[in-house]
Amino acid sequence: MKLIYIGAGFVGACSAAVMADSGHEVLVYDIDRERVKMLGSKDRDIIEQCLFEKGLGDMLVRSAEKISFTGDFVEVERALNYTDAIFMCLPTPEKGDGGVDLSFYDQAAADLSAALKKRNNSEQTQYVVLVNKSTVPIDMADRAAALFTEAGVKNFGVVSNPEFLVEGKAIDGSLKPDRIVIGGTSAKDFAIMKNIYQRFATAPGVQYIEVNPKEAAAGKLLANFLLFSRLVNTYDVVGRVAEMFPGIAYEKLRTILMSDERIGQWGFFNSAFSGGSCFIKDTKSLKKQLGEAGADVAHLQRVLDGNNYQLNHFYERAASQANFNFSGRSVAIIGVAFKRDTNDVRNSAALAVVQRLINDGAAEIRIYDPAAMPMFKKMFDLASDARGKIIKYFDTEDEALQNSEAGMILADWPKFRTLGDAIKKNCPPPYLIMDGRRMLAGQFESLADLGYDIIAVGSPFVKGEEL
Ligand SMILES: NC(=O)c1ccc[n+]([C@@H]2O[C@H](COP(=O)([O-])OP(=O)(O)OC[C@H]3O[C@@H](n4cnc5c(N)ncnc54)[C@H](O)[C@@H]3O)[C@@H](O)[C@H]2O)c1
Repeated sequence: MKLIYIGAGFVGACSAAVMADSGHEVLVYDIDRERVKMLGSKDRDIIEQCLFEKGLGDMLVRSAEKISFTGDFVEVERALNYTDAIFMCLPTPEKGDGGVDLSFYDQAAADLSAALKKRNNSEQTQYVVLVNKSTVPIDMADRAAALFTEAGVKNFGVVSNPEFLVEGKAIDGSLKPDRIVIGGTSAKDFAIMKNIYQRFATAPGVQYIEVNPKEAAAGKLLANFLLFSRLVNTYDVVGRVAEMFPGIAYEKLRTILMSDERIGQWGFFNSAFSGGSCFIKDTKSLKKQLGEAGADVAHLQRVLDGNNYQLNHFYERAASQANFNFSGRSVAIIGVAFKRDTNDVRNSAALAVVQRLINDGAAEIRIYDPAAMPMFKKMFDLASDARGKIIKYFDTEDEALQNSEAGMILADWPKFRTLGDAIKKNCPPPYLIMDGRRMLAGQFESLADLGYDIIAVGSPFVKGEEL
């Protein structure tokens, strides 16, 4: 099949790569020319600097004959003459009121509809399916169909095909998906989508689910809400029990809970915050849509509040439990990605914590992350004022820790489990360790014996031994 992808972000680039690997001919268009250049470089290292997703670089290099990237819309116009489907992978960020900002989608749709009208010498003979891969409002397929029809586009269908990828495991996950959801309205569109996904449609272990577009879009929002609430319940209730009752190890509670098949295995890590580009945004979007439909949305709000409470509570334990005031202090932040194996910093705990440290008058913020510092710098520079200059970036965790008076671990890169050694080497006590991901679990007592004060999500405050 011949496919066009509009938007080469996490979703567009990864999904397009898997389609090329599946044998389709793929053209990926993005307005960000730097991104186009890097992703189209055929150089694994350059690709990974742009989008740090395990396996993406190798896959794009391997499939180079089947996939091309462009920032030139004329190439899209040309390809529309014979394209079977256009995957819309545009950002759908939240608006101030919690709704979905569809301006990126609308801009792309306006450009596309003008071009679609001109395909096949304006005869529009080539049937094309517009596939919403972005996470969109429940009624988006109807809205998109109206938009294209009003613009004069003919001979097209609209399908909702939500993306369920997990950042950090996007390629692996896309090669072994648990489900593919196709929300369509006509047999013709379902048949085209099945052809596109034929590699997976009958594969063992894959649920190939055909529903209508509203069910598909709602299913995506609900999946993210349920996953988000699992995390918030884990942090705010399971973790809190282990924090409030001395003698209870968080990991032991987790083992008990995870052994119950009804409860399931996912989401029992503890964290200072559930960030990323999707869970918070999609929960807000669901809340807004349900609210506008007349439902009581207090429960959704409580889940959002619980996540914010967790981060505030973690941060404030420094003053309330360790008597540590951040004003005038040097603080190391270890991990700025929203989680391990990604350079995505959207809604990361570090973004909020660093802003708060600046507001609270910290003297210096010393940052280390193995992959996400360039992204963090970009995002933070946008949001920051002149006082952001107190932020310094380092190439190793050792350098970031040196001369700091407190160190906060805010992402779960596996190598952070050995940070105890780096702290012992670089940060003589008195020193406050704040473990927002329980990376040092199992070492708290021995670190306290050496004089370190420890605040960790899911543990009571541990005061260092007086040396
Ligand atoms: N990131 C995830 O884990 C994930 C998972 C599932 C679903 N989603 C959803 O998928 C959608 C895309 O998310 P993402 O993380 O890939 O976003 P992203 O911000 O990483 O990428 C979006 C890309 O679209 C490009 N773009 C913007 N306007 C454009 C235009 N007019 N024409 C062409 N390109 C344009 C941007 O330059 C950017 O490269 C969102 O709706 C998101 O909610 C994301």
